[in-house]
Amino acid sequence: MFGRLFFAAFPTPEIRLALASAAAGLDLCSEARLVPAENYHMTIAFAGEVSREQAAALRAAGAAVRCPSFEVTFDAYEYWRKSEVAVALASDCPAALLELHHALRAHVDRLGLRADPSAFRAHVTLARKVTQAPVVKPMSRLSLAVRDFQLVRSARSAEGSVYTVVDSWPLLDNAGRGG
Ligand code: 2AM
Repeated sequence: MFGRLFFAAFPTPEIRLALASAAAGLDLCSEARLVPAENYHMTIAFAGEVSREQAAALRAAGAAVRCPSFEVTFDAYEYWRKSEVAVALASDCPAALLELHHALRAHVDRLGLRADPSAFRAHVTLARKVTQAPVVKPMSRLSLAVRDFQLVRSARSAEGSVYTVVDSWPLLDNAGRGG
């Protein structure tokens, strides 16, 4: 096996800082574990455990994508009980992000990888192991300009998840050019 892969976009250092200070202000239960700020990401399409051949196919899929860049605005905290996470959610999903999700998701599905049946909701996970619903506060809007996306490998270490960028591709600028 090659590892556990997913397509994602990473926040800029400014947005990462703002998310980290927002996360620190959440009133979470004692079991909750804040996600380290360097791990913040927005999953675009999850692939799961893949073989070397499937990883190569996902890289080819990423390289073939022609989707426009976009701006996504995180504007609400949500608690997702089933997965025990607190997230910063973009309640409005830009059309270009949905297009990118569907394009990548179609490749993941075609490879017969684990399909995620839930509808796509653009978010950044701020805390895991949140076993009790926090009092959800209003969130200041944070807008992230997404001009590229990555294929990421997730590994587990004693400290938690370690993400490594396997490959990265530009989205089209407004004039339709890559990068
Ligand atoms: P997250 O986006 O809520 O953080 C790497 O594991 C990333 O893929 C994590 O960011 C995780 O959730 C997301 N992920 C893990 N398992 C998933 C699944 N079955 N379906 C969709 N996304 C998943």
